[in-house]
Amino acid sequence: MSRWPYAFFAAAAFYILVGTNWGLYMSVTHDFTTSPAHAHLNLLGFVSLSIMGAYYALLGRDTPAWMVKANFVLSNLGVVIMIAFLTAIFTGAAPPPVAGPVVALGGVLVIVGFAIFFAAVIRGLVLAGPPARPKLGDLAPA
Ligand code: HEM
Repeated sequence: MSRWPYAFFAAAAFYILVGTNWGLYMSVTHDFTTSPAHAHLNLLGFVSLSIMGAYYALLGRDTPAWMVKANFVLSNLGVVIMIAFLTAIFTGAAPPPVAGPVVALGGVLVIVGFAIFFAAVIRGLVLAGPPARPKLGDLAPA
């Protein structure tokens, strides 16, 4: 089997480790200013990458490698850029007029990653063809 599904799950596992520690830190300090960034790291980083990795491991095994790679690279770049600069805005480390466009760039990369995933799934659906119809003989008693 291709190693790409492992790469998706490895990245997802890394993001959820960071994300849950981040959540724990917010709970302990009662400082929830960065909670939207925490939520997006968990949902885009862990949930979305896990679902895409599971698709490529199970149904999308014959997806062209360039699509899987592009999906992986764009989704990860997008998540990292988006979360880093969202956090910079919430903590006041970077002014919104400067960091905002970078967050948007990260968001666009995430969307393009999802668009490639959509194309991969539609390609799989088309290539799968219609469901096999049972033959008359299959229904006869043994
Ligand atoms: C150890 C695990 C986790 C801890 C300790 C934790 C902690 C927190 C805390 C303290 C908040 C802020 C609540 C507030 O603003 O009043 C929060 C918000 C949130 N978390 Fe987590 N979290 C954890 C895991 C997760 C996971 C796995 C997900 C999703 C897959 C998630 C999604 C969210 C969402 C959607 C919000 C709301 C964000 C918002 O309204 O801005 N969290 N979490």
